[in-house]
Amino acid sequence: MTHTTSHTNELFSGDEPSGINGGSGAGLRPLGDGFNIGSLYVPNRLVQAPMAGISGSAFRLQARRFGAGLVTTEMISSYGIHYHNRRTQAMLKLTEEEHPVSVQIFGNDAGVMVEAALAAEAAGADVIDINMGCPVRKVVKTGAGVALMGDAELASRVTAAVSDAVSIPVTVKIRSGLKREITAPEFAKKLVQAGASAICIHPRLAIQGQKGWADHSVSAALAVSLGVPVIASGDVARPGQASSLIKNGCAAVMIGRASLGNPWIYRDLLDGVEPSRRPAGEVLSEMSCFYRDVVIEMGEERASRYMRKFYGWFLKTFRPDAGLRDGLRRAGSFADALELMRECFEN
Ligand SMILES: Cc1cc2nc3c(=O)[nH]c(=O)nc-3n(C[C@H](O)[C@H](O)[C@H](O)COP(=O)(O)O)c2cc1C
Repeated sequence: MTHTTSHTNELFSGDEPSGINGGSGAGLRPLGDGFNIGSLYVPNRLVQAPMAGISGSAFRLQARRFGAGLVTTEMISSYGIHYHNRRTQAMLKLTEEEHPVSVQIFGNDAGVMVEAALAAEAAGADVIDINMGCPVRKVVKTGAGVALMGDAELASRVTAAVSDAVSIPVTVKIRSGLKREITAPEFAKKLVQAGASAICIHPRLAIQGQKGWADHSVSAALAVSLGVPVIASGDVARPGQASSLIKNGCAAVMIGRASLGNPWIYRDLLDGVEPSRRPAGEVLSEMSCFYRDVVIEMGEERASRYMRKFYGWFLKTFRPDAGLRDGLRRAGSFADALELMRECFEN
């Protein structure tokens, strides 16, 4: 199958099925219904996407508070675990309230990946997700991430070794293919034969990075052919998009960038409500609550740095002027930044 460049994505322009959350449509599986990944019951069909540098435990907790059925760590280096890197080991720290949680690992050596998967299982992971979709050069040049899509035999070996070693379900996150060809259907079939309990698909080619649109006809093709749950990732931001993916056979959808500064998206999707602008007070109070968890996760100094990424995301709908943006850049602490935001938006 060759890649088409058309961006008219039928799956995203389809009619919203009725009974999205009420279950009245014949054969329709509403977003609020649970599903299984192997032996794990996931209480609804919304999965928080893994995002490097972002999806730490505070972020995962936030996604759970707002309704995500399953949360995912950022990708964790199997070699980092193998070499007892302290920063990597800290990424394995899971909190009681965030379960069910999937721990995503990356690497290219079956033995080292097994070691990492066992460490994640011991840390309390409910699912191991193997990253075979990351196109970042630093990762690909080590033979990990999406590079594994170029070596189906090794990818199957890694999947089989990890699945055999742990007693929790193993999923694999993949892309549509590498450069031109859509290889995901054949590739995913091999991973399922090797023991994968579900496949997460981000249907862009590796060379696309995050450019263009996700082509969810690829997700739907996998969903009807694989025989295990397919979780679709890419550009999902509205209830019509999510429910059309479910209607087309996907077991769940992943929410990534659309949740940045907008954790309300989980509730909106579950309720079938279009995203809307939140009152300033509610946004600022959520930022404070999130910050408290970020401090617990990484300490005050790193927390203030991490939070800087989020100001723009949380404030997007308020269109902060240049003065406020400058003030936020200069703010020495989160408390100072919050004060500035309060002055601007609550008066
Ligand atoms: C900042 C950032 C970091 C990401 N890190 C990871 C990662 O660690 N592992 C992974 O499988 N995908 C990663 N992704 C891809 C997302 O999980 C997701 O598949 C992609 O962003 C498309 O979904 P979206 O349109 O909902 O964001 C990352 C994406 C972003 C924007």
